Amino acid sequence: MGSDLQASSSDSSEHFQGGGGVPPVQPIRVGVVGVGYWGSKQLRVMRSTPGVSRVVAIDARLPLLSGMSHLLSTGAGFTSLEAALPHVDAVVIATPPASHVPLGLAAIRAGKHVLIEKPLATTAAGAQELIQAAKEAGVTLMVGHTFEYNGAVWMLRELVQTQELGDLYYLDSSRLNLGLYQSDVNVIFDLAPHDISIANHVLGAIPTSVRAWGQRHLDPVFEDVAHLELGYDDIGVQAHIHVSWLDPRKVRLITAVGSKKMAVFDDTNVEERIRIHDKSVVRSAENKGMQYHHGPVTSPVVRFEEPLAVQARHFVDCMTTGAVPRTDGANGLAVVQVIEAAQISLAQERKVLLSEVSGLPDSARAGLVPIPAQRTAVRA
Ligand SMILES: NC(=O)c1ccc[n+]([C@@H]2O[C@H](COP(=O)([O-])OP(=O)(O)OC[C@H]3O[C@@H](n4cnc5c(N)ncnc54)[C@H](O)[C@@H]3O)[C@@H](O)[C@H]2O)c1
Repeated sequence: MGSDLQASSSDSSEHFQGGGGVPPVQPIRVGVVGVGYWGSKQLRVMRSTPGVSRVVAIDARLPLLSGMSHLLSTGAGFTSLEAALPHVDAVVIATPPASHVPLGLAAIRAGKHVLIEKPLATTAAGAQELIQAAKEAGVTLMVGHTFEYNGAVWMLRELVQTQELGDLYYLDSSRLNLGLYQSDVNVIFDLAPHDISIANHVLGAIPTSVRAWGQRHLDPVFEDVAHLELGYDDIGVQAHIHVSWLDPRKVRLITAVGSKKMAVFDDTNVEERIRIHDKSVVRSAENKGMQYHHGPVTSPVVRFEEPLAVQARHFVDCMTTGAVPRTDGANGLAVVQVIEAAQISLAQERKVLLSEVSGLPDSARAGLVPIPAQRTAVRA
């Protein structure tokens, strides 16, 4: 288990605030690479992050993006990372996953601090390359596992870690919607990083095995519906993950089922993100069947701030103080390893041990769908 995933009081919703927001001595210039759907949010948040003096937009399509083209003439916009590098101290990479490693390496090797959107890389080897490069350059490498900066996830973690739910039986996660189809990766790469990072964070552990099932309904190469089963054998818990681009409803649910209580995190319910169900089942001592307990449902107040803003503050705080980010390269690698194991499982229709992923032999890759170097997802 990586030390970054250990439970610690400093992570709790009471204490972890992504840095105090105290402006660093040297104001920081940030470049956001890729200002599509998610990068435009990063741009907004970075502009209001304490300590950030300037934010520039970097996108190959900048002249075509509405409300962005004027940035080129004011020096606040660039069409390539290379052109922007002399003008920034740090870079946020919000481009399609297949471009994360080359762009990240270019920024790191130029001595820039880097925050890379999930997934950190499309292969464990790529993630390892980023970690090594950041270590050699002495810069901060952080991954945008946004949910690890989410007050509701911290509460769920606390409920599990303090045994408020009793012994945890399992976690169940659903992330479903109609689209948005990506053109460079399957639904596991696109959506499951969130669920894997939440599961690792809530459980304070990393999985030992992965089994995955997927279907391709509309694309000949990339799965649009998938189920993952993560075995956390060290703690005797399983996490089930269902991700889909082909579902009529937007569902964002994490359920934690314990021996005493059950908790549900519904990210679409802003009024009651966490609901704790005082429900349980026990097998009677005389083996006379199941005994059910039905208590009240409570919804505790979640101290909530936009996770992306907390994450941005933490990034600035880490690059300024040299602190190790909560979602550092190792944290990103742990998620990428699970995704890579899931790809092997899909291709070979078997349970894959995480120990097979680091230093994968070529035989283990048989049947894997290669990730094209640059099939940029374009979204209107
Ligand atoms: N943390 C989250 O909750 C969250 C949510 C959505 C997306 N994401 C992640 O954000 C990333 C981007 O996703 P998106 O949905 O915004 O994609 P998008 O297609 O909407 O935007 C990507 C942008 O990157 C630009 N781009 C591509 N290659 C480039 C390059 N080499 N140099 C400069 N610009 C380049 C494209 O022109 C495009 O405007 C992905 O990694 C995705 O997984 C994270």
